[in-house]
Amino acid sequence: MNTANGTNSANSVNALWHNHAHMPTMPGREHRIVRGAGAYVYDDAGRELLDVPAGLWFANVGHGRAEIADAVHRQLSELATYPVFGDFCNPRAEELADRIAGLVPVEDAKVFFTSGGSEALEAAVKLVRRYWQLTGEPARQTVITREGGYHGLHGFGTSIVGVPAFREGFGALLPGALTVPAMDLAALEAAILAHGPDRIAAFLCEPVIAGGAGVVPPADGYLTGAQELCREHGIVFMLDEVVTGFGRAGSMFAAERYGLRPDIMLLAKGLTSGYLPLGAAVAGGRVAEAFWAPGSPHVFQHGLTYSGHASACAAALANLDILEREDLVGRVRSREGRLLEALLPLREHPLVADVRGGTGLMAAVALRGHDVAEEVAHAVVNEGMLMRVTGGDALQISPPFVIGDEDIDRIPVAISAALSRVSGRRSRAAAPSSRETPALSDTAP
Ligand SMILES: Cc1ncc(COP(=O)(O)O)c(C=O)c1O
Repeated sequence: MNTANGTNSANSVNALWHNHAHMPTMPGREHRIVRGAGAYVYDDAGRELLDVPAGLWFANVGHGRAEIADAVHRQLSELATYPVFGDFCNPRAEELADRIAGLVPVEDAKVFFTSGGSEALEAAVKLVRRYWQLTGEPARQTVITREGGYHGLHGFGTSIVGVPAFREGFGALLPGALTVPAMDLAALEAAILAHGPDRIAAFLCEPVIAGGAGVVPPADGYLTGAQELCREHGIVFMLDEVVTGFGRAGSMFAAERYGLRPDIMLLAKGLTSGYLPLGAAVAGGRVAEAFWAPGSPHVFQHGLTYSGHASACAAALANLDILEREDLVGRVRSREGRLLEALLPLREHPLVADVRGGTGLMAAVALRGHDVAEEVAHAVVNEGMLMRVTGGDALQISPPFVIGDEDIDRIPVAISAALSRVSGRRSRAAAPSSRETPALSDTAP
């Protein structure tokens, strides 16, 4: 039974189950964020913290935008939502689908809405497998992904994730997943030929690998080479722009920056900047035609109660208005060099293994091990910043697009100060607190 203050009366433990977290050691470790404004968030101790990861890569237009709240309020007051099942729909979902179709570099795009990125992946994989069934190649079921790739953790997402720790311990997963090294075109071609192109449904990749491997920009020519291999072997080319979409990588979509025309694109996060949950699987004409061509008898038998949720779509429309009106994508592009240059000197520190970035406001400072990364992420709060560990050992640097130049420059200063504190403590071999070196580490993408 829970008491009025939200704690469980039997053992005084809050019932909230944190994601990717070790719950027995959680009491006392919780870091509660209560408010946000621009590039800052505020915790329940009243501290102002620069939101360096933008939540989970989503707070692109910044926190506390009244314009989005007002748009959602208007929509909620008029009609919270109405499903887009069968012949029902709602105008916000139609409006947003057309707006997305007009933005994406996907031929004759059709938009299937979900509530987030994981659901977009599940919809896309079912769609592509069904497409091959209908076009007379039912053996094409395998989806190739890359080591370090992360596309969500629902059923198929867990089966294809390129981070082994996220696949283990669940028993048998879904068949039809093949993982290849991340930046090796020869290995991709060899895998296609060894497996048999006529058994491969799709190749799926992130343009810049985000959480799974801790921000890894593409090797020169890799993405266009992979796209060509897909075309050559008839494989559907699926691009996961859940993180990179809507400006994060310095262009509206990373596909534009790298000269890609995917057959299917996955979107979420920046679509609403996190104001409400929303994702989409965007299918180009090649795949959608099987279901959309005049006279086609086929129905894509997939549905979600909240697909095209009107209030979430209203949030997305207001978010896109801000993104365009304030040219925030241009702002990201013009700051990417500054961010990387500011971070690069950190490479000199003995606890830093690598600094990666240079593609939009996406960077990572890789540290020498997960425990060090956790300690630094914790210590940096004292410097007025919130950071998180991604890819096992890296600090995720992906601030809201509205971050000021002085704040960009403050990020390495804060990391340096935290590194000094951590290395000082380590060299004194002082006994660390349980939060600072967790006995059982939490891992997250
Ligand atoms: C590249 C990528 N794809 C898909 C997902 C899954 O999205 P969601 O958590 O909204 O289900 C994520 C989440 O971090 C992601 O980073």
